[in-house]
Amino acid sequence: MSAFSSDWLSLREPADMRSRNRDIANAVSAWFGLRDHMRVLDLGSGTGSNLRASAPLLCARQTWTLVDNDADLLKHARTALRGWADTAESASQDALLLKKGHAQITVSFHKRDLSLGLGDLAKDCDLVTASALFDLVSASFIRDVARTLAQTRTPFYAVLTYNGLQKWTPHRPADNPIAAAFNRHQMSDKGFGPAAGPMAPSLLADQFRLEGYSVLEGESPWRLDQRERILVAELQRGHAMAVLETGALDPKTVEAWVKVIRSAVEIGHTDIFATPA
Ligand SMILES: C[S@@+](CC[C@H](N)C(=O)[O-])C[C@H]1O[C@@H](n2cnc3c(N)ncnc32)[C@H](O)[C@@H]1O
Repeated sequence: MSAFSSDWLSLREPADMRSRNRDIANAVSAWFGLRDHMRVLDLGSGTGSNLRASAPLLCARQTWTLVDNDADLLKHARTALRGWADTAESASQDALLLKKGHAQITVSFHKRDLSLGLGDLAKDCDLVTASALFDLVSASFIRDVARTLAQTRTPFYAVLTYNGLQKWTPHRPADNPIAAAFNRHQMSDKGFGPAAGPMAPSLLADQFRLEGYSVLEGESPWRLDQRERILVAELQRGHAMAVLETGALDPKTVEAWVKVIRSAVEIGHTDIFATPA
C-alpha cells in the first residue's frame, strides 16, 4: 500500500492533464511520432494517468510497462485503462491490449518497489517516463536513474514534478511559513531516503546533463480555481497535515490557515524531456 489513494489520483487527473507543458509534449511527440513501435516504462504509474496523457503523443504501436509498489493502484489502473480505451481485450501473461484513437497499446502491470533500484526494468525500453513521482525520490535515486538510462542512451520524460512554488488566493501572511514548512516536509523520507522534494526538477536536469543528455524543461503549474474547489480544499488539508507533522509551526497557526477559504491556488511543477545527445 502507498500513501496515494485511487480517489486522490482521480481527483487530480483532470488538473494534471491540462497542466502538462505543451512545448515539452510536442518535443516528445516529434522525437517518437514517426516510429512504428516503441516500448515505454512508466515508473510509479498509479492508476495509469501518465499512459492516458502520453499515449496520444507517441507512435501507432506502443508497449507499456506500468510499475508501482501498490497492488491496489495497479488493479485500478487495469480497470481505468479498460474504461479509457476504445476497445480492450486481455492479452498474454495478464497484459491488456487496448485500442485508442490511432494507437494500439499493449500494457503490462508490475508490482515492484522502485526504492530497490531500477534493476533491468529499463533495459529494452525506448522511453522511461513518470508523472508526479520524482519529488518523492532521493537525490541518489535520481543520479542512479540518469546513469542507468545513459548506459542504453534511453530518453527520459518526467512530468508534473513539484518545484516548491505555491501561490494561494486570497494571500495570507501565514502562506509563506506554511510553504516553507511544507517544502521541508516534502524533503523527508518517502521510502527512498531523504526526498529531493522541490529540488527534484533541478536535480533531474543536472544529472541528465552530466550524463551528456540534451535537456528541455518547462513549467506545468496547477492553476486551480473555484471550479475545482474540492481539489483546492483537499490540497489545503493535505498541506496543513504535512506542516503539522514537521512541528515547525504552532498548531494554532496551521488550524487558522486551513480554515481560510481560497478562491484559487497555483502549485508549481516542472516537466522535463531528456534525450541522449
Ligand atoms: C503522486 S502518485 C503519481 C501516480 C501517477 N503517476 C499519476 O500521475 O497519477 C506517486 C506514485 O508513486 C508510487 N510509488 C511511491 N513509492 C514507490 C516505490 N517505492 N516503488 C514504486 N512505486 C512507488 C505510488 O504508489 C503512486 O502511485
